[in-house]
Parts: sequence; C-alpha cells; structure tokens
Amino acid sequence: MPRYADSDKEKVREAVDLLDLVSKRTELRRASPGDYKGLCPFHDERTPSFHVTPDKGMYYCFGCGAGGDAFKFVQETEGLDFVGSLESLAQRYGIELTVEDEDPAAAERRKARERLMELLERAAGFYERYLWESAEAEPARAYLRDRGFTDETLRAFRVGYAPSAWDKLMMAGRQGGYGNKEIFDAGLAVRAKGEGRIYDRFRRRIMFPLCDPRGRVLGFGARALGADQQPKYLNSPDGDIFHKGEMVYGAHLARSAAARAEEVVATEGYMDVLALHQAGMANVVCIMGTSMTDKQVGELAKLGKTVLLALDADSAGQEAMLKAAKVAAKSKLALRVVPLPKGLDPADVVQQQGAEAAKALVSTSVPFVRFQIERELERADLTQAEGKDAAIAALRPIFATLPPSALREELLAHVADAVDLAPSLVSSWLPMAGERPAAAPARPSGGGWSPGGSRGGRGGGGGGWGGASSGWDEPARPAAGAAGPLARAEGDFLAQCLATPDAAAEILATLDDAAFSGDAMRRVVAHVRAHLHAPQEGLPEDDKMLAGAVAKLVTKAADLAPSRAALQGQLANIELLRLRREIDAAVSSGTGGVAALRRRRDQLEERRDTLIQQAMEETAPSA
Ligand code: UTP
Ligand code: MN
Repeated sequence: MPRYADSDKEKVREAVDLLDLVSKRTELRRASPGDYKGLCPFHDERTPSFHVTPDKGMYYCFGCGAGGDAFKFVQETEGLDFVGSLESLAQRYGIELTVEDEDPAAAERRKARERLMELLERAAGFYERYLWESAEAEPARAYLRDRGFTDETLRAFRVGYAPSAWDKLMMAGRQGGYGNKEIFDAGLAVRAKGEGRIYDRFRRRIMFPLCDPRGRVLGFGARALGADQQPKYLNSPDGDIFHKGEMVYGAHLARSAAARAEEVVATEGYMDVLALHQAGMANVVCIMGTSMTDKQVGELAKLGKTVLLALDADSAGQEAMLKAAKVAAKSKLALRVVPLPKGLDPADVVQQQGAEAAKALVSTSVPFVRFQIERELERADLTQAEGKDAAIAALRPIFATLPPSALREELLAHVADAVDLAPSLVSSWLPMAGERPAAAPARPSGGGWSPGGSRGGRGGGGGGWGGASSGWDEPARPAAGAAGPLARAEGDFLAQCLATPDAAAEILATLDDAAFSGDAMRRVVAHVRAHLHAPQEGLPEDDKMLAGAVAKLVTKAADLAPSRAALQGQLANIELLRLRREIDAAVSSGTGGVAALRRRRDQLEERRDTLIQQAMEETAPSA
C-alpha cells in the first residue's frame, strides 16, 4: 500500500465539497444558516435527523449516531479504509497524491497494476459499446430482453458483449497502447497451446464486469450465448488483480441499500443479482457459484449485519450455507435463509412470478437455525420411533446453541409437533445453550454438523445497543437490528453522559428510569447515574450484561467531546423517538389526539436540531 504525504490529506479535505459529496447519497436542504439536513444514509428513517455542516466539514446523525468528516463519510458509504477514501476523494476532486518513501521496485509494481486496471476499465467500455452498438450483438440484446432485463438495469451493471472474432479485443488493446503481455496479464487473452500466439479469451459471450466495492473493474464473468459453448460461464482467471474467491459480485451497487436495510441478500449467480435489483431490491450480491469462502463471508459481513442466503437448495447451495454458518458462528453476523421454490433461482422467481412475489419471498426468510432444524426433520423418517429418536439426536447440537428465548420455544413446539410427542418430553431431551448435554433418548448421531448461527453469546452487535435492551440476542439475528433506534439513542445519550458527567448528574437526577426501554437498559441507567465519574467501579460481579454495556459506553465516551448541548440534544432525540412511537400507536389504534402529538413532535424536532447545531459548533475541531 502506498504511503502518501501528510499534507495530501489536508489538500484533499480542502478540495472536497462536502455538500456535493453527501448530496449524491441523500437529498439535503438548508435547515438554518450553515446547517443542512436530510434523511440519514446510514439508517432507515422517515423524518430527517442527518445534519451536515459544510463550513466545519462535518456530518452527524441524531437518529443513529453516525458522524465524521468527508473521509469518514466515504469510508462508511463505500466500505473503504482511510487510504482508500483518500485515493477516492483525490481522484474525484482532482488532487494529485504524492507517494512517499516508495522503493523503485514497489513503484514499478504499483504502476504496472494501475495500467492493468486501466486496461480492464477500457475493456469493460469496449464490451459495453459492442453490446449496444454492434449488429453482431443483436442476438445477445434479444436474449437479455427475453429474460426481462431493462436497458437501465443492464447499463447500471455495465453488461456488455464480447464479439465472436478471435482478436477484436486484442486489436483494441494494442491500439490503446497496451502490449500483448499486459492484455494477457489482465486475463483478457489466452495463449494457444504450443505456439506462443495469444488471442481473445472472451468470445460470443455476454459480459458482466466484476468490480471491487469501489466499482473498479477487476475481471469479467462471461455467459455463453449458444448451447454449443462451454462452460456456461467463463470467468477471468485468478491473477494479480482478480481473485474470484475473495469477492462477491455487485457489492458496489448493493452497498448503500444494504447499509440502510442493515441486510444483504446473497444469491448464487449474476442473473439473480440483476433480476432482484430490477425488482426493487438493490441490497443484493452473489457469490458467483462458489462454495462460499471465508473471505466472501467477510465481504458479506461488511455489507450488512444480517445476511439473507438465497441459494439453491441443491447440495452446492447447502454447502455454501453451512460454510457461511461456520464463519458466522465466530462473528456477530446473523444468517437467515430465504426458502426458494424447488428448481427456481431468484431470477426465475422474478421472471415467472414478478417483482412483488420475489420481494414477498425474500421477506419470508427464516433464521438459519430454523432452516437447520427443518432439514433434520425432513431427513428423518418420522413415522417410526427410531426415526424420531434419530431426529432428536441430530437436533441436540443445534438446540445446544439456543439460549432460552421465544424463538427457542417456537422451535421446540414445532419439533414436538413434527415428531408428535409431548413438548415437555421433547424439551427435556434437548439441551439449552451453556447446558451440558444430559441423557438423551438415542445415541448421538454420527453425521452432526457444526452449530450455526451466533452462539447465543452476550452483548450487542456492532455499535448497537441491542445487548442492553433485550435479555439476550435472538440466536440467528443478533442485537442492533432488533434493538432499534430508541435503544441506540439511549445508548448514545448514556455515552454522552459519561463524557459530560457534571451536566449529566443534573439531568439524570430529573429522569425517570422507568421510561428507558427494557429492564437491562434501566440497570445501565441506574449504574451510570450512581457512577458518573468512575463508571467501571461498583459493578456487581454477577451482572455480565451490565459490565459489557458499561465497557462499551466507556469506549464510546472516549471519542466524545464533553458538551451540555449534545447531552440535551440526545435527550430531546430520545423524547422524539418515544413520541414517534406514541404517534404510530395512536394512528394505528385510531385513538384521537394525533394532531396534538404531531405538533409536539415538530416542536421537539426543532429544539433537538437547535441543540445539535449548538453542539456541533461547540465540539467541532477548530479549523
Ligand atoms: P447457474 O448455473 O445457476 O447460472 O450458476 P445462473 O446464474 O442461474 O445463470 P442463468 O440464469 O442460467 O443464465 C450460478 C453462478 O455460478 C457461476 C456464475 O457466477 C453463475 O452466475 N458459474 C456457473 C460459473 O462461474 N461457471 C459456470 O460454468 C457456471
Ligand atoms: Mn438462473
């Protein structure tokens, strides 16, 4: 990775127009002089709580706590590290970066790589033009039309066509000043056996550019047009730039939708991604038919806290799901399974049943454990006692991952029903999370598989406060997503309390603990109030939840500047969120008084925004 001069960061910061940058992701309007607001690009909301102060070069969301400068914004919205955000912004705002301390060999490698990337970009453009402009591509255009794809979708994914001649791309590449070796190294050419002659790798195929999360072309997936062509999909070979097992297809187009939904849908193939995208679900990627690698699970986890697996029920798809579950068990990733109709992939569902049916299908996803249990029940012969015992034995390791929860009870009832035995009996045979497996009715099954889902471990998901608000995480769908904005806002407020202890003491003295959401959160509030200056002290030894929540608060508080206005703003935000709930309840139950509630909401919103503005001014780093 190149090292850039320190002054480059400031140069880029000055060149960036934060308003312009953010406006590409969400519509902003002026709230007060120097303060713009809009719907938060980082979480789902209907009323704007996302603020941008261009003069300070900062943004902040009072709904979810996301905040930072232009670099942070690009990192978060495009999934980049700091250097990536620097490069990306430098390119967009026309700043030349200065590479420091690079040895000549490394410089050479970097330049060679840059040329290959440029060549791949040009090749994508070449194939794209060929699809739309050449007579030869008419069958390809007809094929794509028949499959129901609109021009808009095809253009968004930069779908192209590789002509059937042996050397069209080679010629174009040479005209562009690239040598044979470069064209070969980019994976665009193959070498004839024996002789050294090289020719186009992709011919008479529909081309899907495979891009990194920044949208830069790394390689291609190419679909055969004729039945005579093998394989059905020909991909770029793994090389210096492209590694099939390390990426998911479509990440650059799925990222923002996935971030907002906090969910990403993982399908098997390119066509599924295009079809679901066109059906109105932009948070979709595919694993390109691989058996799912650890790296790919990592890429999925970067896109959303929850992954919905929409993979074929065939053995390859199952293997991919198990692989994902194994990796997910070690992380906070929640896995759900979208049950596909037999023999159909998501693209088929869209084409045969329509966009709405596809959306409805995705919304029926079940926690991965549920899918596991279903599978075991399907395998067993439940008409015989032996079959029932075998099923129970196979279910034991799965239930051993489930802490007491509503989900567990639901699954128990389901199993009892399936084996047609009393629920209390079945329950006594199935171990609870953390419990040593007790006597079982049957010998343990040989072919057990590794427990999937999260291990029922304590604590919330990335940055959320779910762990504090619910007794435990639902095994296959942890924390933050379920916790919701209110619990998150409460967590943010408490962190700000620790950062501003004196003002917090006054404010907390007037607050009613009962108003906080959930028993766990109330314990945290009580502790924070009593230990504002030394929150790590006085923790009861037997309350792991409290200790974990406090540790998180302390970490979070370390990043916050003390600010009374921020504290009041956070509090106003909590009130606002509670009020919104009240309004929703009043609207859906038809009780009156909605107008008055809405008026109060508008006032509160204004008050919150004023406080935010004040807090941002107080705490912004001096320019
Ligand atoms: P499928 O065979 O399910 O194809 O392979 P598909 O995506 O449904 O495409 P259509 O609908 O038949 O046109 C799933 C994915 O596996 C990878 C591709 O990424 C493909 O999209 N694959 C498949 C290959 O890489 N090579 C192959 O030969 C076949
Ligand atoms: Mn298909």
